Amino acid sequence: MYHTHALQERITKGLAELNIPEQPANLYDPIRYMLHIGGKRIRPLLTLMAADLFSITHMDTAVPAALAVELFHNFSLVHDDIMDNAPLRRGHTTVHEKWNPNVGILSGDHLLIMAYAQLATCPGDNLTAILETFNTMAAQVCEGQQLDMDFERAVTVGIDEYLHMIRLKTSVLLGAALKMGALLARATETDAQLIYDFGVDVGIAFQLQDDILDVYGDPAQFGKQRGGDILANKKTYLLVKALEMADATMRTELDGWLADPSNPSEKIAQITAIYDALGVRSEVETAKQRHVKQAYTALDAIRADDRRKAPLRELAQALLNRGQ
Ligand code: IPE
Ligand code: IPE
Ligand code: MG
Ligand code: MG
Ligand code: MG
Repeated sequence: MYHTHALQERITKGLAELNIPEQPANLYDPIRYMLHIGGKRIRPLLTLMAADLFSITHMDTAVPAALAVELFHNFSLVHDDIMDNAPLRRGHTTVHEKWNPNVGILSGDHLLIMAYAQLATCPGDNLTAILETFNTMAAQVCEGQQLDMDFERAVTVGIDEYLHMIRLKTSVLLGAALKMGALLARATETDAQLIYDFGVDVGIAFQLQDDILDVYGDPAQFGKQRGGDILANKKTYLLVKALEMADATMRTELDGWLADPSNPSEKIAQITAIYDALGVRSEVETAKQRHVKQAYTALDAIRADDRRKAPLRELAQALLNRGQ
């Protein structure tokens, strides 16, 4: 078994060894920038941890898939920051603000191409299954991102619609990251599906936590603008619940703020006050715990030694108590 730290080092090394050209600088500098400003690198770690759980013979054969997952994630973030009009990412200026939106579009596209270049080096007898898992996930992330934007303008969004949206935009990537590691380690179909299910439920809990942090997180630690979701009228779990729970007076107040972009800091303060008054934060926490529990049920069902599952359990714990 590998130490988590050793797997993290493989990922860091793999990313450092990517051969990123110098010119044109406005294409490649943003890519270097995005990869160098950090990030938790959770998804590639999931790939390697799943490979280790199922006792992969050579860990090196799982590294390209892990890198592909992290490159895809970074592609999605560069484009997401354009879509969300976000000024800050990982405590640094976002690519489209530091350069411009066109640079963000193209350097994001190229990160996706780099992801596929990594996938192309996966073992041949595994390649079809890996590509199928990856492509299904990638299309679903696009679907989720579109729903996320559609919901900004939707008057009512139900909790089930919200959960469907975050499953697509966020969770399937965690599931696929794990499943790819499992496939590379020749896990059975049942176990590959179970570890995918574990990842999806961890991913849902992770996005619920991200919604909480967007309002209540410390920007210095979280690395993103506080209240960005409120300013974009994102139908987060917090807002969906608040719209559901508000009485007529509060609903009018909330609708008023949602329709008013004129004073951003006041909008954030007032909508946060409504969330506090309704106690929606604890509603999100309850939903989060439900998905954590479901995740562990899937992990428990995997036919592998409990000791080998411990690092995944610990990672999920750390992730869901995160402040960033
Ligand atoms: C950000 O993911 C996007 C979401 C799904 C909330 P992370 O919080 O894993 O981002 P980095 O890579 O660590 O910056
Ligand atoms: C992230 O959703 C989903 C993807 C990037 C695909 P968010 O928009 O909530 O992520 P952050 O908060 O900007 O990291
Ligand atoms: Mg977004
Ligand atoms: Mg965003
Ligand atoms: Mg967010």
